[in-house]
Amino acid sequence: MNKNNFLNLETIEKASEFVANQIISLVNSKPNCVLGLATGSTPLKVYEYLIEDYQKNKTNYENVITFNLDEYVGLDKKYADKSYHYFMNKNLFSKININLNNTYFPDEKNSEKYDTLIKSKGGIDFQILGIGINGHIGFNEPPADLNSKTRIVELTDSTIKANSRFFNEESDVPNRAVSMGLWSILQAKQIFLMAFGKSKKNAIEKLYKLNDFDPNLPASSLIKKDNVIVIVDQESSFY
Ligand code: F6R
Repeated sequence: MNKNNFLNLETIEKASEFVANQIISLVNSKPNCVLGLATGSTPLKVYEYLIEDYQKNKTNYENVITFNLDEYVGLDKKYADKSYHYFMNKNLFSKININLNNTYFPDEKNSEKYDTLIKSKGGIDFQILGIGINGHIGFNEPPADLNSKTRIVELTDSTIKANSRFFNEESDVPNRAVSMGLWSILQAKQIFLMAFGKSKKNAIEKLYKLNDFDPNLPASSLIKKDNVIVIVDQESSFY
């Protein structure tokens, strides 16, 4: 990826519409494509555009396969609605005609087989990523390992703090998750990393200025890869 691969699309709306349109064209041209999906605030508008398009144009997701990046481990039952499964069903899957049997999430049991499963479906054609304020992608926290596969990870204090906005107490946020590794993410054929809001500006600035992988900024694993686009809004852009 080079510096021209950073696009400031100014608003979350324009940026999300841009990414959604890429996904819609892919689904139309390759009806059995494999999408790598993220949760959190960042992709929410992308999913809204996909739903809007589905309602208007009936884009067909029947044969689309999805792999989510990550899922909490040890979530208390009372927080079942904070799971990433729940998030995806609520914000996308229940509103398009995707076959739930084609939607995959990593978990404690399948973590070692997740990368093989992705490969057996042809590999991820299009990966959506958000970025943590500490530069994480998926739940690959710093210091990150370029060769990491899907596995159980410990969340850092900064991630637990950032995610506590969804829970009653910070101590209710699970401190473990299953996440695709950096290696797993780098196998995707096309990657769109999105960063919105001023809390992401620092991580984006570091990413832009680095020329090589720095384990302290996991997103910098993308630097050596082609086919990566970084999409920012006005608030996360520093240039
Ligand atoms: C979520 C994920 C995380 C988030 C990141 C940003 O599946 O993999 O890396 O993308 O924590 O979260 P938001 O979008 O809530 O700021």
